[in-house]
Amino acid sequence: MDRIRAAYSMESGPFFLIHSLFLLSYAFLPAAAPPPQPFTAPPALLFPKESLPTKSGYLPVHPTTGSAMFYAFYEAQQPTSRLSEVPILVWLQGGPGCSSMIGNFYELGPWRVTASSPPAGQSVEHLSLEPNPGSWNRLFGLLFLDNPIGVGFSIAATNQDIPRDQHSVAEHLFTAITAFLKLDPELNSRPIYITGESYAGKYLPSMGYYILKKNSRLPISRRVNLAGVAIGNGLTDPVTQVATHAVNAYYSGLINEAQKGELEEAQSEAVRLTRMGNWSAATDARSRVLRLLQNMTGLATLYDFSRKEPYRTEWVMKLLQSKEAKAAMRAKESIEFKECSDEVGALMHADVMKSVKPMVEFMLGSLGEGLRVLLYQGHLDLRDGVVSTEAWVRTIDWDGIESFLTSGRKVWRVKGELAGFVQKWGSLSHVVVLGAGHLVPTDQPINSQAMIEDWVLEKGLFGEGQAESFGVQDQPEL
Ligand SMILES: *[C@@H]1O[C@H](CO)[C@@H](O)[C@H](O)[C@H]1NC(C)=O
Ligand SMILES: *[C@@H]1O[C@H](CO)[C@@H](O)[C@H](O)[C@H]1NC(C)=O
Repeated sequence: MDRIRAAYSMESGPFFLIHSLFLLSYAFLPAAAPPPQPFTAPPALLFPKESLPTKSGYLPVHPTTGSAMFYAFYEAQQPTSRLSEVPILVWLQGGPGCSSMIGNFYELGPWRVTASSPPAGQSVEHLSLEPNPGSWNRLFGLLFLDNPIGVGFSIAATNQDIPRDQHSVAEHLFTAITAFLKLDPELNSRPIYITGESYAGKYLPSMGYYILKKNSRLPISRRVNLAGVAIGNGLTDPVTQVATHAVNAYYSGLINEAQKGELEEAQSEAVRLTRMGNWSAATDARSRVLRLLQNMTGLATLYDFSRKEPYRTEWVMKLLQSKEAKAAMRAKESIEFKECSDEVGALMHADVMKSVKPMVEFMLGSLGEGLRVLLYQGHLDLRDGVVSTEAWVRTIDWDGIESFLTSGRKVWRVKGELAGFVQKWGSLSHVVVLGAGHLVPTDQPINSQAMIEDWVLEKGLFGEGQAESFGVQDQPEL
């Protein structure tokens, strides 16, 4: 089981998982995770009253069959204006097929799950919830959606209802968000920023495109007030991104030249199959590239090359499996909560290598000045990191791209400390987050909060601001 967990991927995981099952005999993955621990948690203590969502439950996407999307909404903790004007961030997890409750309880939600180490001689880890000082709902409302249906607590009444492509995903998300905004007249006018991570790099441009197209045909009162899109460590233009692993790992000193050559061959095969439109085979070829890199480096996880053990997202699964937890979240008790749905993953398998770059181009070129787009990456991610993102951004077909590429990268500090780098021109912003892997808010809670707040409010480096001044000293080659 450890090997499977270590191989589990939140951006194309289920396939990786399925393949891992067949390949277990190779034992190509290090048993980096500690042995699975039994978990205990007294249910009454698990969900303190103040940790409960402001609203949660189900938004119908298919009223005739009963398919519905699970949502959990947390109102802003310290709103700075009337609630009817406070922005709302929507969060989508990747996969395809992983639950946004990972984002909620392990990354950016107001309460995060943690486990205390078992006392000597015992093997039981105690789970508990702790307030998150870097929560993204300090100034904004925060809406988690379990997307697509069939994921997390969402209900897929039939297998046919589950999306196979980005258009159906976007259609369901639009229906769900529209239903959410009708829950309360105060919600309707609030600016909406759609955010997410990893495979959501596919969902978010598709959804942004769909909303903009739909809005243009709707009366103002029925539009979704979309104000921006933020993608963390995203997979967006896979054919470009899959070709960057070898150089990235080689120039990071993680593989040698011969291994670089071997990896490049595997990448070329993924590119070839993608260009042929042999989609399923292309997805498998990408998984082979990542497995090869994993095998060459022996890392605990490609999500963060500095980690000694994988991210512990299984805590979220353990947290949400109990009857009490489901009642607290107002989720259907009969649903067995899993981090990631193999069924949804398998149905989206042929979608993985399809690019949504044209949707990003559409968003940047729309609404006169362009819909605001933020691309941010944790610097230590070997799957969908900085190099992978810059490779496709360079190729964007958009009037502003030359100005963006030639505008300087600025040093970004939070409370005087180096946090990363920001490059911005017009509606496009790019942020490198230092000291973070694939799950940026998990690794850098405070800095990720500062980033999203400044970006939404157009403050600091996202406004007219300048980089904080800093002294540069020559250093010896120690
Ligand atoms: C897709 O690629 C696989 C693997 O290379 C190959 O076996 C299969 O025949 C290809 N399918 C088509 C329709 O080309
Ligand atoms: C890589 O795979 C080979 C066999 O496929 C195995 O012998 C080797 O131990 C693996 N290396 C790592 C670091 O997992």
